[in-house]
Amino acid sequence: MKTKPVISGWKLFWLVAAIVLALTASILAIHPDPVQAMHVVIRVTAYTSLAPFLAAFLASPMATLAPNDFTRRLLRERRYVGLSFAFSMLVHLAAIFSYGVLNAQFWPSRDFLTNTPGTIGYLFIALLAATPFRIFSRHLSAAAWKRLHTTGVWVIAIIFGLSFLKRIPTVSELYVIPLLIVCVAIAIRLTGKRAQAKRRTGAQIRKSSDAHFNKTVESAA
Ligand code: HEM
Repeated sequence: MKTKPVISGWKLFWLVAAIVLALTASILAIHPDPVQAMHVVIRVTAYTSLAPFLAAFLASPMATLAPNDFTRRLLRERRYVGLSFAFSMLVHLAAIFSYGVLNAQFWPSRDFLTNTPGTIGYLFIALLAATPFRIFSRHLSAAAWKRLHTTGVWVIAIIFGLSFLKRIPTVSELYVIPLLIVCVAIAIRLTGKRAQAKRRTGAQIRKSSDAHFNKTVESAA
């Protein structure tokens, strides 16, 4: 008999949201300098977003490559894990704007080129966060929904990868660690998708050869 997970669905979403908000509030309360504190919140929320993003990004390939209770449960909860990621990114965005207010040099220090990847990323996050809701998804065909999700998750994965990559020469070599994690996740996703495609082709071949066999038997009878 399958046991229902204690924390699932919206409960899971609110738990992650509460952790992100508690972390943000603790950083702002503990840090003596509000400008520095807001900078830390931006950085921390990048990671509280990365974790649920990777979980949602890997849910389907992991359920194919390593089917077990955990991966099947992750696949079932993917919608809420994805919404938790969007919530954490919302806090990242709120912290960015607050930092811009607290630090007058922030926006002038950025240009069109530095803002473009993140802005495109947020556009996709908004679209992906809207699609689990019927009010938006009913305007999308199943094919358009799939195209949007596939494009969106890849764009976001690449933005995470580039964010870490660009910091290796300028900030710290330690950014190699999160960059490697993103690269491994990309490799797992590609392997899982290839396995799913192979399985689908195998099933189609079996179906058409069954149909051919039945036709031959019927015409011979
Ligand atoms: C999909 C969108 C985005 C993703 C995935 C993302 C991801 C990240 C990551 C991974 C970091 C590095 C955390 C660290 O320093 O260890 C970061 C930091 C930061 N992000 Fe974002 N970000 C996004 C959008 C944006 C946008 C639109 C802006 C501003 C216009 C922005 C401003 C910043 C700033 C100021 C930092 C801290 C910079 C530093 O100290 O090096 N981000 N973000």
